[in-house]
Amino acid sequence: MSFTRKDLLGIEELSAGEIQSLLVAAVSFKEIIERNVKKVPTLRGKTIINLFLEPSTRTRISFELAGKYLSADVINISAGGSSVSKGESLLDTAKTLEAMKADYLVVRTPFAGAPLYLAKMVKSAVINAGDGAHEHPTQALLDLFTIQEKFQQIRSLKVAIIGDISHSRVARSNIWGLLKLGAEVTLIAPPTLLPIDIEKMGVKVRFKIDDELKKADLVYVLRLQRERQRGGLLPGLREYARLYGINSSRISKKAMVMHPGPLNQGIEIDDELAYGPRSLVTDQVTNGLAVRMAVLYLLVGKK
Ligand code: CP
Repeated sequence: MSFTRKDLLGIEELSAGEIQSLLVAAVSFKEIIERNVKKVPTLRGKTIINLFLEPSTRTRISFELAGKYLSADVINISAGGSSVSKGESLLDTAKTLEAMKADYLVVRTPFAGAPLYLAKMVKSAVINAGDGAHEHPTQALLDLFTIQEKFQQIRSLKVAIIGDISHSRVARSNIWGLLKLGAEVTLIAPPTLLPIDIEKMGVKVRFKIDDELKKADLVYVLRLQRERQRGGLLPGLREYARLYGINSSRISKKAMVMHPGPLNQGIEIDDELAYGPRSLVTDQVTNGLAVRMAVLYLLVGKK
């Protein structure tokens, strides 16, 4: 098992072995973040620039903390606080940051494919922190780590992913990752929120909640991405909550639930389940830190 890439752009291009290498490395970093003194010198002298052109709480802060725990210098840039707001292109921004000797560019953008383009144009390691509806690889890695931690193994696990699949980079990255590690994946969503031919990825599809959901060991609830949706995809939020909202009576008594956050509580998931004993939501957030430390380490720190 090894991981020798310059960039982390998506889960689709990773082998199962590369995913496992990242998850194994994250175990050591989880041990570090549970210490009283969390700082290690691994990335001393390295610079990480978080270029976030869309809002984020979890991903941006955990990349910042991950970099700081590894002793890197970390700079955060948002669209509003940079020359992007004056019309500078993403490439010019990335070239400027590269000229300042950034070792890493962590990029969140509404444009699918932009991190791949930048990775070809700059020497810095590019990490995709979410590109449009395409991929969110570190979210999938932290989810896989959380699943492995809880269930010990992912092979043959029955996972139901429910909600707004069409607009979800989290769903796409998780589907690739879960299938590569041998899980059985069922997608549940209204037809208007499912991409055409998604079955070709190797998943089952259901248009409404039925017995398939009760068979799931793990129910992964997606955020309804109202900011990305064109009008007319749903009759209304109340209707969506009634037909697809997850509560404990809809899932098996043994099933666990996950959600990438941020949550629309009371719409896709009810409050009691989201923060109750069957929820892995806070584990996901903590594990995000360990996984992002592992990604930073394996891309540049190891060298
Ligand atoms: N899950 C996720 O990407 O959350 P943020 O948008 O808060 O980073």
